[in-house]
Amino acid sequence: MFDQKIAPYGTDDPEKLMEKFYKAGNEMLLTLRNYITNPDNRKKARTWGSIEAAQMVGVSNPTFRKLLETHSDIPGIVTETNEGNRRVKKFSLQAINILREYANTKYTRPTGSKPLVIAVSNLKGGVGKTQTAVDLGKKIAITGLKALLLDFDGQGTATLLSSGLIPDLELCYEDTITNSLVSDPDKIRDIILKTHFDGFDIIPANLAIQDCDLLLPNGNENNQDTLGSPFIRLSKALKNIKDNYDVILIDCGPNLGILTLNAIIACDGMIIPIPPSMGDYSSFIMYTASLKNLFKELKDKKLEYLRILISKHSGNNEAMQMENMMREQFGRYILSNHMCDTIEVSKAANEIGTIYDVSKPRGSREAYRRAVQHLDDVNMEIINHFKDIWGRQAQKNTTTELEEVVNG
Ligand SMILES: Nc1ncnc2c1ncn2[C@@H]1O[C@H](COP(=O)(O)OP(=O)(O)OP(=O)(O)O)[C@@H](O)[C@H]1O
Ligand SMILES: [Mg+2]
Repeated sequence: MFDQKIAPYGTDDPEKLMEKFYKAGNEMLLTLRNYITNPDNRKKARTWGSIEAAQMVGVSNPTFRKLLETHSDIPGIVTETNEGNRRVKKFSLQAINILREYANTKYTRPTGSKPLVIAVSNLKGGVGKTQTAVDLGKKIAITGLKALLLDFDGQGTATLLSSGLIPDLELCYEDTITNSLVSDPDKIRDIILKTHFDGFDIIPANLAIQDCDLLLPNGNENNQDTLGSPFIRLSKALKNIKDNYDVILIDCGPNLGILTLNAIIACDGMIIPIPPSMGDYSSFIMYTASLKNLFKELKDKKLEYLRILISKHSGNNEAMQMENMMREQFGRYILSNHMCDTIEVSKAANEIGTIYDVSKPRGSREAYRRAVQHLDDVNMEIINHFKDIWGRQAQKNTTTELEEVVNG
């Protein structure tokens, strides 16, 4: 704890002061997390009420009730007392996924389609990359698909918001991607963490992944003889696990360092969040120049998906003017829906989570409902694009197989 009354203007021992900040800060994070996740210090899966659950399963309320009568032993259904003192059933995502199977409403990625690796990236910091990646991962899981999120930023914010784990206290070097990239791509199998969302896993990060910036470019340290170029390590590692997922999201840091380069080389697609402001726009234009040079080197690189997401939209006149200008410039490459800047994001973050974790909103229910609607609109637009891509891949494969049969 620090003296609340006097703080000198500077310090003779910045190292010690930073160490004190670090310790005090992590202690506070831990206390806060433990308070939120009391009693077992792990984030718990949220549940949904019957009406929402029926909608998620994709059946009418009477059909949903019939399903429950027929299948009474489904795990993940609990009975709670609501605010009106009534006993109500609540459904976990696991239970909803089982009910989707019974109701035959579960979307399955078509045979012949491939999992999509999507890098969420922008050179600029604070534009909403992590928020986008984490919420998209959760929404993919909510729709019944399987998502893996790779935290590629040593800040570990995606790890914190996805799992509730305090990156620098509760994770060690071996829990991060570092060894899989530097010494053994098979190690990626051992570092996948399940989150409290059924179908949403993560590969976590903490400051240890900064070692990749030092080790991977160094010929003596990066095992180039056995593992090849340091830029294709993620592509190699992902081959081991890719088929267990429908979508693999990579939350890149605000840089074009070796981790981001690995992500861009390994990815099938990119989502670039840009807030509608002049500073963010001009930074994005610089990013396109760097990407152009990178793609020039990667001769055969194709992107199956590229979309710009207008993020953190304040809704004021300036933002709307900027949005219009961006839409004029980049047309259909900009997602139709945008992400609103909303206080609900900060409220959920204060509880170490995102909007999708909230089952009982603090404050206005209407504001929360609107925030979820905006988020759903953005994420479902993206997920529907993915489904379209999978449909085309499957069709292409079937056509190729047929041609092979016809041509002998
Ligand atoms: N839709 C939103 N509404 C309100 N706040 C938001 C929204 N999206 C993101 N934020 C806030 O903006 C800040 C930056 O968001 P985020 O961490 O997702 O950006 P980032 O691009 O990943 O940043 P970095 O480059 O540091 O990794 C965070 O405090 C986050 O809570
Ligand atoms: Mg981030």
